[in-house]
Amino acid sequence: MHRVGERGPVVAIAKGRVQEELVPLWQAAGFRWRLAAGSRQLWFAPNGDEPGAIIVRGPDVPVLVAQGVADLGVVGQDLLREYPDWEVLQVASLPVARCRVVLAGQRPEPPVGPFRVASKYRRITAEYLRQRQWLAEIVPLSGSLELAPLIGLAPYIVDIVETGQTLREHHLVEIETILPSEAQLIANPAHWRSKPEVVAVRDRLTAATTATGTGKEGAHA
Ligand code: PRP
Repeated sequence: MHRVGERGPVVAIAKGRVQEELVPLWQAAGFRWRLAAGSRQLWFAPNGDEPGAIIVRGPDVPVLVAQGVADLGVVGQDLLREYPDWEVLQVASLPVARCRVVLAGQRPEPPVGPFRVASKYRRITAEYLRQRQWLAEIVPLSGSLELAPLIGLAPYIVDIVETGQTLREHHLVEIETILPSEAQLIANPAHWRSKPEVVAVRDRLTAATTATGTGKEGAHA
């Protein structure tokens, strides 16, 4: 088996939305995408000048990059803000997984008085509540946030919105955008300085962004 560590560049990629939306950009950069849709394979060895890939959950991407197991990572800005404790460099924004972290509820008016808010973004939510000087209890959930107001768990949620469809289907509306987000290419600082082939992967991905015209608008708010 090919051992991670003695090889060409390796990119840790966040499973799900980032992984799916990265495909066209990856291909436009001239890399072959070996990740078949629905495949459960999590490790792809580097092959010639094509980087290897490790597929992990979003919060784990900065961990692998900081530890040097991956040279680069692709992960949403939202997760970098939520898990900021890892020493990584942000070396490019990629036009992938564009969304926004929002406060949502059953009515568009901001909350009045102490309230409960459900979120998987505990740090972002706590920071936001502090800035607004709102008194609230954060109910930690790891998914299906839109259920919280329906089942009486919390009248407000902080979650990501892309098309707004999930909110609409649960009769929720956006009250305020907290953070626009899109995928970030991050790098291990030591590898970034010492391995030109790692910088070359960034250059090919950003050139593909320019060539496909997908990088012009930035994250939408
Ligand atoms: C996110 C989020 C919403 C949905 C919003 O979930 O939690 O449920 O996407 O997208 P929309 O505005 O286009 O409807 P995701 O599918 O990423 O999975 P997660 O709940 O595991 O984060």
